[in-house]
Amino acid sequence: MEMRAVSGSIESFKCDCIIIGVFEEGLDPRYKGLDQKLGGALSSLSRTGEFKGEFKSAKLVTTLGRTPAKNVLLAGLGKKAEYDLEKLRKAAGITAKYARNLGLSYVASNLHENFIKDAGPRDKAQALTEGAALALYQFTKYRTVEKEKIRKLKSLVIVDSSGSLEDVRKGLERGRILSEATNYVRTLVNEPASIMTSLQMEKEARQLAAKNRLKIRVFNKAELEKLGFGGLLAVNRGSMIEPRFIVMEYAGGKGKVAVVGKGITFDSGGLDLKPAAYMDGMKCDKAGACTVMGILKAASELKLPVHVIGVMPVTENMPGNMAYKPGDVVTTYSGKTIEIGNTDAEGRVILSDALSYAEKACKPDAIIDLATLTGACVVALGYSAAGIMGTGRRLLEGLKKAGDETFERVWELPFYEEFKDAIKSEVADVKNISSYPKGEAGAITAAAFLSAFVEATPWAHIDIAGPAWINEEWPYSPKGATGYGVRLVVRFLENMGKG
Ligand code: BES
Ligand code: ZN
Ligand code: ZN
Repeated sequence: MEMRAVSGSIESFKCDCIIIGVFEEGLDPRYKGLDQKLGGALSSLSRTGEFKGEFKSAKLVTTLGRTPAKNVLLAGLGKKAEYDLEKLRKAAGITAKYARNLGLSYVASNLHENFIKDAGPRDKAQALTEGAALALYQFTKYRTVEKEKIRKLKSLVIVDSSGSLEDVRKGLERGRILSEATNYVRTLVNEPASIMTSLQMEKEARQLAAKNRLKIRVFNKAELEKLGFGGLLAVNRGSMIEPRFIVMEYAGGKGKVAVVGKGITFDSGGLDLKPAAYMDGMKCDKAGACTVMGILKAASELKLPVHVIGVMPVTENMPGNMAYKPGDVVTTYSGKTIEIGNTDAEGRVILSDALSYAEKACKPDAIIDLATLTGACVVALGYSAAGIMGTGRRLLEGLKKAGDETFERVWELPFYEEFKDAIKSEVADVKNISSYPKGEAGAITAAAFLSAFVEATPWAHIDIAGPAWINEEWPYSPKGATGYGVRLVVRFLENMGKG
């Protein structure tokens, strides 16, 4: 889909459909002329109560040749005082899908012109672009039947009459970069696990690195053995496919942040096999690593003045003949040992290597990890927020702020010292499951485990098991992979770049 911005008045824009916003307080007086041309159709809809401007509602009015546009799509924006950038994103997503599903191809919108306190034309154009481009994402490459029925918008034009075309274009460009990076992550995660293997992840990373001029280094199995990546190698043992450890770098400025992503291309649970209902969907267990790739893509395209190093341990977790077993003891890259209590708690085992590699080899100012780490985090927080814990107060607050700003929200869980007691082992330095009999505070004890592998660097752990994957459609995300985390971390890096 093409997206661009022009200046002019939307009433005279020629296309299949113009999208205009309506608050519950009534039609904006600026649309009086449009309403008159349509014989009062717009005002009568509100008079009869057919369209009240309720948030998330939409109503199509056919113009029968009375205006340059063939249709007017009214977008309900709710109450003026409650309207904000997130509602704009949602309204843009809902109306773009509405137009697409009717088979319309060329649409125009000026939703960025509706009043929002404290937001300028750039931020509003960015939100509009994100909402539409994220909502229109579809993963259809494996469908062969009735492909012609899959509808696509060809063009969405932002029509600006506020005299801020320059700002609107900047916002649109930022929104385009961020939504393309998010959709890129969604596609990597949605790809079936038998296709998006560790080897394919390496190919994807190399392609991205070549295109965006990123440095890349990929460690293969022999190299990992030599360097002592015992955690990643242990989890890989049940798989027929070699592991990969991918390191990518975008050096755009000073502050250096390592972003570590869990890359389990499929989590069967290993010998502690998951029951069928829990195993379905476990291709999503690589979302952390895929998000790291999306972050590097967006950061480089936005030319952020920061230094980002992506660190991705990638393997399947399978119950093959050679699979690692409960009771095994594994020596990690850091030298610390792990007693395996459950092979399904594999994410923390591969992250142990990745976190200490990030700290020791990259020497960053901060480490952020993203991982679909625990079902417990989904139980605690659902799908609207990731759990966050860590050791750097400023880092954690910065991520919370970025989460509120982008609406990719994080919720901090208590990270008391005593949780470290729960992951003690009698035979090794730590154990990959806690001693709490019912898995109590599972998201926190998992983070306590990870903390053993970061010595002195400010570190934030983001458990994305909930928001990385949704089972129902949302206003600007279809079912499946959401790409959660790209906009969050990029905003954090942007704020950091500002100093
Ligand atoms: N990949 C799962 C966590 C997960 C669950 C991600 C649901 C997305 C949705 C992780 O590897 C796992 O299996 N964790 C176990 C840990 C337990 C064995 C201590 C869990 O959460 O049950
Ligand atoms: Zn698991
Ligand atoms: Zn897992």
